[in-house]
Amino acid sequence: MYAQGPMATDDKFKREELLRTGEIRVTGRLVDASNATLFAQLTSGETEIACIYKPVAGERPLWDFPDGTLAAREYAAYLISEAGGFHVVPFTIMRDGPFGIGMVQEWIDLDESIDLMDFFSSDHPQLRAMCLFDAVINNTDRKIGHLLPINNEVVLGCDHGVTFHVEDKLRTVLWQWSQTPLTSEEIQTLEMLLVGIRTNLASTLSELITSEEISALEMRIERLIQTRVFPAPSQEWPAVPWPAF
Ligand SMILES: Nc1ncnc2c1ncn2[C@@H]1O[C@H](COP(=O)(O)OP(=O)(O)O)[C@@H](O)[C@H]1O
Ligand SMILES: [Mg+2]
Repeated sequence: MYAQGPMATDDKFKREELLRTGEIRVTGRLVDASNATLFAQLTSGETEIACIYKPVAGERPLWDFPDGTLAAREYAAYLISEAGGFHVVPFTIMRDGPFGIGMVQEWIDLDESIDLMDFFSSDHPQLRAMCLFDAVINNTDRKIGHLLPINNEVVLGCDHGVTFHVEDKLRTVLWQWSQTPLTSEEIQTLEMLLVGIRTNLASTLSELITSEEISALEMRIERLIQTRVFPAPSQEWPAVPWPAF
């Protein structure tokens, strides 16, 4: 399902090990990217993996995200996706590479037969999970092109660098659940995530985002648990990214 060409491996652990330890060979740069977003390969014996590599050194400063790095936010977003059981972000790590430390993320081959323009507004369960995940991480950039459908069941998302701001800035194309009640499983997931953030994840997160951002993250989760509904688009700031694709 995650096949990457003829030498690909279906073994998740082998792929993750390769992403952690393999030598990164940069083979391209994504041209429309605003920061240095590099396409790279890692090879070990029979196995070849493609990845996205975003070196911290290639980041442009953003006035509204002055602290930390985009790469660290992407890694923190992955950790929250896993800890919250959302599973909507490809395997992501922070590691060294040819242009220094950066975020490395497994490349996902898309199912080209899925038309994103129809798909993004559907009620697909994994889009719903991503919608809740975005509310938790305060994603300011959930574009249609940041949706990565692998097949009809599995949909992942990318580009989580502008997230975790202390002020509410949710900007997304996924508003189909606005004000929809959360299920009891979703509430349970959020409660477990909150415990995880305060225990297992606490020290790792504190190296990636500021303590104010961690408090704001906890407050957003608490608010979702209290209100028991998906957020509605704000009247005070643009609630849909531009361009939307
Ligand atoms: N892990 C990934 N797997 C597959 N495609 C990806 C992945 N990460 C990014 N992309 C593709 O590359 C584009 C640019 O990457 P993105 O993370 O959005 O960079 P930028 O921060 O420069 O916008 C995305 O819109 C998406 O089409
Ligand atoms: Mg992008």
